[in-house]
Amino acid sequence: SKDEKTFHIGFSQCTMSDNWRKTMIEGMERELTFHNNIDMVISNANGSSNKQILQIQQFINQKVDLIIVSPNEAKPLTSIIEKAYDAGIPVVIVDRKTTSEKYTAFVGADNKLIGQNAGIYANIILNGKGNIFVVGEGAKTSPTIDRHNGFLKTINHYPNLKLVKSVFSARKPQNFQNQVYAIISQHPDIDLIFAHNDRLALMVADVCKSLGLNKKIIGVDGLYGDNQGIDLVSKGVLSATILYPTGGEEAIKTAVKILKKQPFNKENQLFTTIIDSENVGIMLAQYQKIKEQEDDIKRQATRIKDLTRIFSSQQNTLYLTVVF
Ligand code: FRU
Repeated sequence: SKDEKTFHIGFSQCTMSDNWRKTMIEGMERELTFHNNIDMVISNANGSSNKQILQIQQFINQKVDLIIVSPNEAKPLTSIIEKAYDAGIPVVIVDRKTTSEKYTAFVGADNKLIGQNAGIYANIILNGKGNIFVVGEGAKTSPTIDRHNGFLKTINHYPNLKLVKSVFSARKPQNFQNQVYAIISQHPDIDLIFAHNDRLALMVADVCKSLGLNKKIIGVDGLYGDNQGIDLVSKGVLSATILYPTGGEEAIKTAVKILKKQPFNKENQLFTTIIDSENVGIMLAQYQKIKEQEDDIKRQATRIKDLTRIFSSQQNTLYLTVVF
């Protein structure tokens, strides 16, 4: 109703340009169509922790009702997020973590488990023996740290699996691709590459192709769409991808519960699984169905908005008729 209080959410994103982040925001926006008393503002730190600290400080100054944040790097972002929390602003952390327990709720998959799944799968497709190269994103982000630790811990159980090298991305993608190219061409003995996300996995696949090499590649994310993880697995470009849900809808659902003072869970662990040639067909079919339903929801939301507009303009006309 009209007298319902409007809640202001500040969403601080570490980066925003890739499809995974776009999918997260789409999920949030879809969920927000069910709550027209919530206003969400998004800031994009463009991969800079310093910028993100300033943007969160702005949300604190504006006294938003709740902050959602995907912290760029764990350590540098910890104290500003603690500051927001201590100021009494509920904080929902999504995807990436800080090094502190001071937050209201967390929504995301367990990145250690993702690394472990990748390690278990690597062992299976290498038949227990082979040389591995790891390609990850920024070394100080929590998913990189957790995925790498989970992966190492797992492959260390297998005496004949060897990590020959690991690299973590520099800021310039082209330089990073050159670096990966150099490593792969200098190590012809590499059998498998664990790429920390499907964008990197596709880059690795391109590098291998240009070198005329055929390597096993495992990615992470498993998005639906052209040249996204599921598509790449179904085309055989990747051996597997480990599903990493964005949690956009869940983040909003949790935020709404907190704002409405309803019970909620502090830890909200999202589901993950290995997607390979065995189950990719069923995943594709499921996603197609989900996509259709999401499009229906979008159309319904637009229709409701239009009807509401027509209705309120009719009310105004009625009012005028009565007065004059
Ligand atoms: C998107 C992304 C994903 C990855 C996640 C980790 O920006 O790089 O590909 O799984 O962030 O935070």
